[in-house]
Amino acid sequence: MAIVTFSSPLMHKDKAVYAIAGDTKTILALAEEHRIPIPFDCRDGNCGSCLIEVSYDDPTQKKGIMLTDKEKSKLKELGKITEEEIENAEVNDMPPRYRLACQFIARDEDVTITFSGNPGGA
Ligand code: FES
Repeated sequence: MAIVTFSSPLMHKDKAVYAIAGDTKTILALAEEHRIPIPFDCRDGNCGSCLIEVSYDDPTQKKGIMLTDKEKSKLKELGKITEEEIENAEVNDMPPRYRLACQFIARDEDVTITFSGNPGGA
């Protein structure tokens, strides 16, 4: 079971929730379930409203994941992924610092999700 901590100036204080291992819920779905106000619009990786910053509580536990082309190109368009991160994502399947909450599936790793509350503003 992973602990997902949400942090935003919109929230009175940080909120930690449990994500069940093997569940296929996105971070956005998990946030909605717990009334955490991550902005969103399309829910499909197209608009960029749900941009979040992800930090791994234990970076050595960061797990590889294949980034979809859709998410990669939206992050590029938003200027939220570096060339080095693109290469690391493509070669090593390592996720970048910024993600789209509607595309990121909560897995068995403890993460802190930060968002500003402005759509696309992480
Ligand atoms: Fe549109 Fe996530 S809600 S990209």
